[in-house]
Amino acid sequence: MKLSTSILSSTDRVSCINKLNNTTTDYIHIDVMDNIFVPNYQLPIDEVNKLGNYTKKDFDIHLMMADPITFIEKLKVKNVNSITIHLEIKKDLNKLISLIKSLNYEVGIAINPKTDINRIDKYLDKIDKVLIMSVEPGFGGQAFIDKSINRIKKIRDKKPDIVIEVDGGINKDTINKVKSIVDIIVVGSYIVKQENYQEAINSLKI
Ligand code: DX5
Ligand code: ZN
Repeated sequence: MKLSTSILSSTDRVSCINKLNNTTTDYIHIDVMDNIFVPNYQLPIDEVNKLGNYTKKDFDIHLMMADPITFIEKLKVKNVNSITIHLEIKKDLNKLISLIKSLNYEVGIAINPKTDINRIDKYLDKIDKVLIMSVEPGFGGQAFIDKSINRIKKIRDKKPDIVIEVDGGINKDTINKVKSIVDIIVVGSYIVKQENYQEAINSLKI
């Protein structure tokens, strides 16, 4: 299982990335919000491109955006593992999947807690990863929604070999609910709100 640390709840993003470079986190999770798809605004493309100059880890980019095309086209970061878009947006997802693939990034689709999980079915053969939101998207530091566990299991049944990522409300207690059933765990505030990131990561016992 891999760890993707979200910098959303950090106060100084550059120093957060510099610190994460020296930890065992596998990826750095970048949350991008447009104040339309979610009621919060975070990280314009220029800022993400700038942060890319500091990272030694690959970015795992989570786009909570109603219209992510321009962001994807303007992305210039060298260390990118994947780009994840949301199932709920009213855009042609097949076109977005093709665009992301054509730029040689892995492609993920994120599903909000209240969205019918079966809506993902027609995309499962076209994508690398499903991101199960275990909180309502928009803010760090929220409580893990237990119903997410069954949703993860349903995706696993539908497509056993797809990469499953879980995002929201993970700490040293809630991680035990998902540890054995997902491939990537996003952890934000639990790590970046502590002084010693590596100690926080060690306490997750991944
Ligand atoms: C929420 C974001 C998450 C968030 C996770 O909209 O997608 O990535 O930063 O933060 P924690 O771990 O604090 O729930
Ligand atoms: Zn996220």
